[in-house]
Amino acid sequence: MAKKKIIKRSWAEPFKIKVVEPIKMTTRTEREKAAKEAGYNTFLIKSDDVYIDLLTDSGTNAMSDRQWAGMMMGDEAYAGSKNFYHLWDNVKKYYGMPHFVPTHQGRAAEHMISKIMIKQGDYVPGNMYFTTTRLHQELAGATFVDVIVDEAHDPKNENPFKGNIDLNKLEDLIKKVGAKKIPYVSMAGPVNMAGGQPFSMKNLKDVSVLCNKHKIKLWFDATRACENAYFIKEKEKGYANKTIAELLKEMCSYYDGLWVSAKKDLMVNIGGFLATRNKRVYEEARNMVVVYEGLHTYGGLAGRDMEAMAIGIEEMVEYDNIRARIGQVEYCGHELEKYGVPFVKPIGGHAIFLDAKRILKHLPQNQFPAQTLAAEIYVDSGVRGMERGVVSAGRDPETGDHRYPNLELVRLTFPRRVYTQAHIDVAVESIASVYENRKNVKGLKMVYEPKYLRFFQCKFEKL
Ligand code: F0G
Repeated sequence: MAKKKIIKRSWAEPFKIKVVEPIKMTTRTEREKAAKEAGYNTFLIKSDDVYIDLLTDSGTNAMSDRQWAGMMMGDEAYAGSKNFYHLWDNVKKYYGMPHFVPTHQGRAAEHMISKIMIKQGDYVPGNMYFTTTRLHQELAGATFVDVIVDEAHDPKNENPFKGNIDLNKLEDLIKKVGAKKIPYVSMAGPVNMAGGQPFSMKNLKDVSVLCNKHKIKLWFDATRACENAYFIKEKEKGYANKTIAELLKEMCSYYDGLWVSAKKDLMVNIGGFLATRNKRVYEEARNMVVVYEGLHTYGGLAGRDMEAMAIGIEEMVEYDNIRARIGQVEYCGHELEKYGVPFVKPIGGHAIFLDAKRILKHLPQNQFPAQTLAAEIYVDSGVRGMERGVVSAGRDPETGDHRYPNLELVRLTFPRRVYTQAHIDVAVESIASVYENRKNVKGLKMVYEPKYLRFFQCKFEKL
């Protein structure tokens, strides 16, 4: 009897395309000129000169027809907009936090939380840093302490939960500086700078027990919380039958409060918020937002933006949506593997992180291998990624020296619902070509450096 053929069954996006935006094709000569003018910093390249934009998944998402319809329902009253109340209801329903303050984006919420919670001389432990998060903590007077598990700093380590906090590191810090000097533990999931790596529910529970024991608050950077929930469902024992919404709610239940850049999970182009179960923090934030953002019922947003966020919350917990989102990142990773291109394992939630240290082995870290690689890929094909290495890490505020992170990466980040599999193929083939020619690539020297978050605006010249 003939053997039955095993037929592969693929997944596909749970949506179809209704509106398209043409993109410009450029020549290599044009891109060489654009890269030079931008000081080899992909943040300074005009979007018009980019073919496939994998710079970030932040605010670059395609909204659904429901979200666009919601935009037409904007109630642009200065005070008490009905969209604010819709959004607040959904924050309560899905994140389980009773108190809520909208902000124009995530870092505005980080600014307020840092100002409210931190006193000069405090310490804020976190599972690896994020650029804006750490800067606001430092500006408020704290020293940031990385308490992520060691595996997170090793791009080859395949531990499925490299976003976990190392409880020993956290306990050591508490012993060393005392719980009174730690206003809160800052926990993100998945961890952006580690390669989009999630924490496990078990680790979160353990961290929460330790924090409670020492009366230290636990705050959540819930910017991509649904991606973390997806990984828990797929990889952690005992959670396979839970919905993304249930997992999100359970995760949030261990935190005192959270902040969100709505430009990610919520699939909008602008927005953020802070939510908490702590009445005192809420009262302070509600008052502070008036100074920096706008009235507490709009926080720097238009009514229509809040409506799109409210609808985005309902869409972000749909399993098929998040599976297709992470499925696209996985597809890119598996294709790159075929060419032997080294990148951070396991494949993370929002991006592929190319391992520039292993790709451009001949460049020392002070010649900015990741910055160089991002520029080379752009020149090759118009695919734009971003540096996540020594440039992003910035300078030590005490010594003024470069901080040299273990991870020297180029991030290829996937906007939600924007690109097709064919776009991914084009990007992969370009990266594979650059990888083939890697030995001829020369490094960069920094010629301009701003004081804060230098990676956004600094400039380089070719060596
Ligand atoms: N927290 C995380 C984990 C982030 O990834 C970001 C932004 C923020 C906070 C700040 O939010 O941009 O709305 O002010 N990440 C973007 C990125 C910029 O490209 O990863 P924001």
